[in-house]
Amino acid sequence: RSILVLNGPNLNLLGTRQPDVYGLVTLDMIDNDCIEHAKSQGAQVVCHQSNHEGALIDAIHAAKGHHQGIVLNAGAYTHTSIALMDALASVEIPCVEVHLSNIHAREDFRQLSYISKVALGQICGFGSMGYTMAISALLAHLEECS
Ligand code: DQA
Repeated sequence: RSILVLNGPNLNLLGTRQPDVYGLVTLDMIDNDCIEHAKSQGAQVVCHQSNHEGALIDAIHAAKGHHQGIVLNAGAYTHTSIALMDALASVEIPCVEVHLSNIHAREDFRQLSYISKVALGQICGFGSMGYTMAISALLAHLEECS
């Protein structure tokens, strides 16, 4: 099984970006954790990050036929992008939404997630651990559906 771990805008800056909110873990560390975690469960992970909405949409389209699940932290596009939501709905690949921070405990404009409307579920508030939690959840879901 193969899972796409997709990160959106500004997440390339993890480690130095508002560490009080997002922690000190870098995206490279998260990606490596995801790869190792999936391997330990007999699965494979491909990691990708982009600051561009269209490139994220392209990556979701390209996942069709190659990945059975998507772990997505869409960053601020979470709260704005109907296009990303539509892309996920179009490919019909199960998606788990991840946020490092607990978006529900933050500003009002972070309370709405377009991604949640098409995701299997959302994991937020657990920092970098959320990504490996999401991989476990996706693999358990795929197992249940097979
Ligand atoms: C985030 C939360 C978003 O509101 C924010 O715009 C981000 C990061 C998170 O992981 O907590 O860029 O997705």
